[in-house]
Amino acid sequence: MRMARILILVGTESGNAQMVADALKPVLVAAGHKVDVTDKAATVADLQSHEVFLVVCATHGSGDIPTNILPLAEALERGRPDLSGHRYGVVALGDMTYQDTFCGGGKQLDRVFALCRAKRLGERLEVDASSQPLPDEEALAWIESWKGLV
Ligand SMILES: Cc1cc2nc3c(=O)[nH]c(=O)nc-3n(C[C@H](O)[C@H](O)[C@H](O)COP(=O)(O)O)c2cc1C
Repeated sequence: MRMARILILVGTESGNAQMVADALKPVLVAAGHKVDVTDKAATVADLQSHEVFLVVCATHGSGDIPTNILPLAEALERGRPDLSGHRYGVVALGDMTYQDTFCGGGKQLDRVFALCRAKRLGERLEVDASSQPLPDEEALAWIESWKGLV
């Protein structure tokens, strides 16, 4: 397997997504990849320097993107940089008691990366805080198959 430069993009208000990202990083490192994690809104230049993105994004307000990652989502939506040479995955955190807006933040990030023609690897993981008190456990199970797609 070829080593990939992976950028984990964290969208969080209260730390769960950061905890999940911190749990996933060592798994990807052990698989032989170079992994950076950021909770700052990455610039398009940051994206260009990584082949693969892993979005780990919570949902706040009413289906909204956390404020720390909102500038990135807006830049992708407006600027539509060509990311067709890049691949990405999405771990969306939400709570099913919010029903219609479940995992809206991660879904929106998924949509903007697709708009920029990045290719999604595997299915999006949607973690429900109302039934899963330990989001990192579900994500650790999901990453086992996702890492094989990188
Ligand atoms: C004020 C507030 C609003 C929320 N709104 C939604 C929502 O609309 N949809 C959803 O799926 N989850 C929603 N959630 C649940 C969070 O996305 C979930 O608890 C997540 O694990 C938080 O991750 P974080 O600690 O990384 O911010 C909301 C949580 C809070 C506190």
